[in-house]
Amino acid sequence: MFVFKAAVVGAGTMGGQIAQTIAAAGIPVVLKDVQDDLVEAGLAEARKVTAGQAKKLVERGKLDQEAADAQVASVVGRIHGTTEYEGFGDVDFVIEAVPERMEIKRAVFEDLDAVTPGHAILASNTSSLSITEIGEATSRPDKVCGFHYFFPASVMRLIEVVEGDDTEAETLQAAVAFAQTIRKMPITCAEVPGFVVNRILNSSVSEVWRVQEEEGIDVKEIDKVVQESKTVPMGPFFLSDLLGLDTVLHVAEHLKESYGDRFYVHSGMKELVEAGNLGQKTGKGFYEHGN
Ligand SMILES: NC(=O)c1ccc[n+]([C@@H]2O[C@H](COP(=O)([O-])OP(=O)(O)OC[C@H]3O[C@@H](n4cnc5c(N)ncnc54)[C@H](O)[C@@H]3O)[C@@H](O)[C@H]2O)c1
Repeated sequence: MFVFKAAVVGAGTMGGQIAQTIAAAGIPVVLKDVQDDLVEAGLAEARKVTAGQAKKLVERGKLDQEAADAQVASVVGRIHGTTEYEGFGDVDFVIEAVPERMEIKRAVFEDLDAVTPGHAILASNTSSLSITEIGEATSRPDKVCGFHYFFPASVMRLIEVVEGDDTEAETLQAAVAFAQTIRKMPITCAEVPGFVVNRILNSSVSEVWRVQEEEGIDVKEIDKVVQESKTVPMGPFFLSDLLGLDTVLHVAEHLKESYGDRFYVHSGMKELVEAGNLGQKTGKGFYEHGN
């Protein structure tokens, strides 16, 4: 199945950049959120990323400024922002990127089932929730799968294509082909907690979180040492702030519930989330962010 038009639901930390990856591959995409300012923020993110990519091409002498400006305009012009489901009637592939809560995801999938054509694949960017349970909110669980991007979506090439109990083989094949069309690197995986990457990542980060709380070490000190080691671009606490502490906490809790004490839930992070401090997106987390 070729994807002639796609849609993304949720224009937050992930959604704006996800829409950008699709538009940059020449495919028109509808980007929906619940409020105009959130849609605008998603579109602004897509524009910023595209402008950054074009700037690099100009610096390398591969594009002149005029062509770069035209490229930015044409990529961003392929993204249609909306607060309604207008434009969903002829989409072939939808990626849902709303908050990591089952009741929100199921409500969105119920809507999507009603507003999209019957052949459309409905995919979730969920980091940890059950694809089978999400699919059960629709009349087409065979056409529901996971399509899990990594932050930042415009840069990270991997996509985990996740198979639920009811996902049919054709759906997985189409999702893999779509990921390749938008120049990503898909892997397929089973619906196990943490899929592949978060299971590996969280097993190591859990040890950092555990030692930080047991020893009372300053989180900024840990981040500084990790960053200076040059093994990864930034420390785990700053990274968690960028990812969104609510999302990181949810994944950590899910992994601990599923696999036991080899995974760790950071109580300081939990307190921050309970106080509404979700990291960069709210302006405060482990760090203060000038939004
Ligand atoms: N943040 C990450 O690093 C990351 C990485 C990979 C996967 N994910 C997953 O992606 C999903 C989204 O995460 P995020 O970090 O972008 O969340 P976010 O909180 O930054 O953004 C979610 C957006 O969805 C919108 N929304 C809520 N209900 C909606 C509805 N009914 N229709 C349209 N929009 C709606 C919200 O207004 C918000 O703008 C989650 O499932 C998360 O687990 C996140």
